[in-house]
Amino acid sequence: MMTMTREEIEARVERLGPWFHCIDLGGGLLTKTESAVGEPVEHPRPTWEKVRAALPEEFDGLSVLDVGCNAGFYAVELKRRGARRVLGLDSQRNLVRQALFVRDVLGLDVEYRRMSVYDLDPRELGQFDVTLALGLVYHCKHLVLALERLFAVTRGLLILETAIYPPERSPGSFTYEVGGLQPVLHPLAYVENPGEAKEAIYNWFLPGTEALVALLRNVGFDEVEVFPATQSDRAIFACRKHEAYPDSRWIGYLGASLAVEEGPSHSRPGEVLTFRVRAENTGLARWLRGDDTGTQEASVHLVAHVFGAEGEEPLSWYHAGAYLPGDVAPGETATIEIAMRAPAEPGRYRLEFDMVSEHLAWFEDLGSEVVRHPLTVE
Ligand SMILES: C[S@@+](CC[C@H](N)C(=O)[O-])C[C@H]1O[C@@H](n2cnc3c(N)ncnc32)[C@H](O)[C@@H]1O
Repeated sequence: MMTMTREEIEARVERLGPWFHCIDLGGGLLTKTESAVGEPVEHPRPTWEKVRAALPEEFDGLSVLDVGCNAGFYAVELKRRGARRVLGLDSQRNLVRQALFVRDVLGLDVEYRRMSVYDLDPRELGQFDVTLALGLVYHCKHLVLALERLFAVTRGLLILETAIYPPERSPGSFTYEVGGLQPVLHPLAYVENPGEAKEAIYNWFLPGTEALVALLRNVGFDEVEVFPATQSDRAIFACRKHEAYPDSRWIGYLGASLAVEEGPSHSRPGEVLTFRVRAENTGLARWLRGDDTGTQEASVHLVAHVFGAEGEEPLSWYHAGAYLPGDVAPGETATIEIAMRAPAEPGRYRLEFDMVSEHLAWFEDLGSEVVRHPLTVE
């Protein structure tokens, strides 16, 4: 615990203000005694009471990420409930300063960093048993990206609390023809802002409950439970994942880095050639090997295309394919053998290796690079 006198604490509280979170610093000291922007003076305690209903009873040994943590009220509460690791992130520097000050006064082992929700990356931060995104998503101009990033860093449970499209003003969900299909449309309101609007402060979208449930399922959550809120214009969503990483059906999370480790650059016409390709899963989805029919939707295969040495048009598209040795998790690498017949005509060719999630997408179209290999047939 930081040794600060009462006067020093009071002076820092004053200097770091205004405060949105009312946090008890001990000895009868609070971070604030009046409302800053119209929120209840004791905010966020009333919200915390509602959020608790959606949280696990026990936090012992769990890791928790609080995105948009503000001055750290929730991070403090969860650390006190026994969470092993608590990391709070906020995009605004003055709020991270407030959180660090509170942590030091209370002497708690909580980490804080200034970071935007858009920069969440499990390869850097790891994944968390529980992620909190409370009062955050209406501040997100890039709503779907924010939800994808929250999904990626969550191992088990995301608790999302937000203002919603006022149900009494909403037309409700309806079916309507769009592009020859008859999808269900869910209301989601766009908040018009001035050009100079600052993202962390302004509001951008008010999703209806149904729209947010659909979005959360579409970014990959397996279950989304809505907790009834006492205020009709806010809601709490408990979003669960069955697996830490989604599988290769979720093409937004696919990525690969390929290298030819071994294989000929010269051959006779029609000769059977074998290449060894190293494939690293640089995405955030597990690659599924699939069954031996090779046709199973979303199974991931290595594929070789044949081009003329300088040509842009393929001479033979999907010339050969190869299975993975097994499923490949994000961060893992597989070595894949791929056999193919050399072209029958002598000439100079270029092989291009790419991965495919069958029936869904080529990895190149999702932003990964193909690997090129020259081949001369003599
Ligand atoms: C309405 S406050 C909610 C604070 C706290 N979670 C709560 O429920 O009391 C929104 C918080 O999200 C933060 N925020 C806004 N945009 C953000 C972003 N792109 N990335 C991370 N934090 C953001 C703001 O700085 C602010 O602390």
